[in-house]
Amino acid sequence: MFENLKLQSEDKIMALMSLYKADKRKEKIDLGVGVYKNNKGQTPIMDAVQKASRILNNTQKTKSYVGLSGNLGFIDNISQLVLADVVPKNQIIGAQAPGGTGAFHQLLLLIRSMEKDKRVWISSPSWPNHAAILNHLGIQFNNYNYFDYDTCEVNFSRMMSDLQKISPGDVLLLHGCCHNPTGANLSLENWTELTQFCEKKNILPLIDLAYQGFGDGINDDVKGVQYMASNLPEVCIGISCSKNFGLYRERVGAALMVVSDKKIHKLVEENLKSFNRVTFSFPPDYGASLVEIILGGNNSQDKELIHIWEKELNSMRNGMLELRKLLSDSLRRSTNSTRFDFIERHRGMFSLMGLSVDQVARLRTEFGIYMVGDSRINIAGLNKDQIDYFSSSIATVI
Ligand code: LMR
Repeated sequence: MFENLKLQSEDKIMALMSLYKADKRKEKIDLGVGVYKNNKGQTPIMDAVQKASRILNNTQKTKSYVGLSGNLGFIDNISQLVLADVVPKNQIIGAQAPGGTGAFHQLLLLIRSMEKDKRVWISSPSWPNHAAILNHLGIQFNNYNYFDYDTCEVNFSRMMSDLQKISPGDVLLLHGCCHNPTGANLSLENWTELTQFCEKKNILPLIDLAYQGFGDGINDDVKGVQYMASNLPEVCIGISCSKNFGLYRERVGAALMVVSDKKIHKLVEENLKSFNRVTFSFPPDYGASLVEIILGGNNSQDKELIHIWEKELNSMRNGMLELRKLLSDSLRRSTNSTRFDFIERHRGMFSLMGLSVDQVARLRTEFGIYMVGDSRINIAGLNKDQIDYFSSSIATVI
């Protein structure tokens, strides 16, 4: 019977991970999957996470089930981190999910159950799994232009002109910060305009927030999200703690709904729980409990942790900003042009380099440099000693 299965198309990021693993060259460089690495090429467990694990291991009394919405202390703390006090607490409904992907999936289940012909509008380009999950769930979607391949910046006027075709009730998928794969981000003015647009056209924003703290700062990165959440009656936010807490394999995420009409709170909450029940039942607790502890538990020992975590995250971000500066300087020298100056202006883990598929393939085969086929690089995959090798390789293939 299994011979009737259809071969599934492989996600290009996952495919690249396998290619990289199989490459035996010592000098190979992995700029593929979005995993933070320090200057030694390691992804260490954050100090705040290690400390929180010790607290959790010493205090947790049971491994019994928590609840279908998961750890509510985690939900409160993560809502506070993302929305601070801009939205009254009683307008936020949250459910834990396995990672940001899980949160995105659960929010789409909720959206799909509202109306059959709801369309989701996604940026071109976007994280490949967005379209894959939408296809898998049978949800119709359209693309809107986002990235200008000549300037490697956001083309906001083309984006807005594409969005003129959006229908009332449709869903607009946005990246909360640190756009994946481009690294080109909306300005606060853009967020303001989009908020007015959503209000006027009755559009539901669905925000994927996976890199808070990786762009301009822990608070600065969510200014646009906060503006939208405090000015629209309904907003969906899918949160990942994989990157900013380094908890990748623990699968920590949250589906947050901002709903200003209190009469429908119970309905939204019960739906989120019920979708969790039929998808995976209870969300995984360990990583979420660590985040809960870091972001501020009830005792003073826990309160220290938030500062330790902020310091670590700030230094990760500053390291990436330094790499951006060094790389764009080095590319200016090696290509004798300002073509790649956008790297310094981009934010987050990624930059789309604007290289052709052939150029990306040459970098991989001839130089052992692995980037996603659309020429997305993970800036944190580079270390300072590799920068000149990387830029001279780019100069050779362009
Ligand atoms: C990425 O974009 O590389 C990360 O978000 C990892 C993933 O799951 O694709």
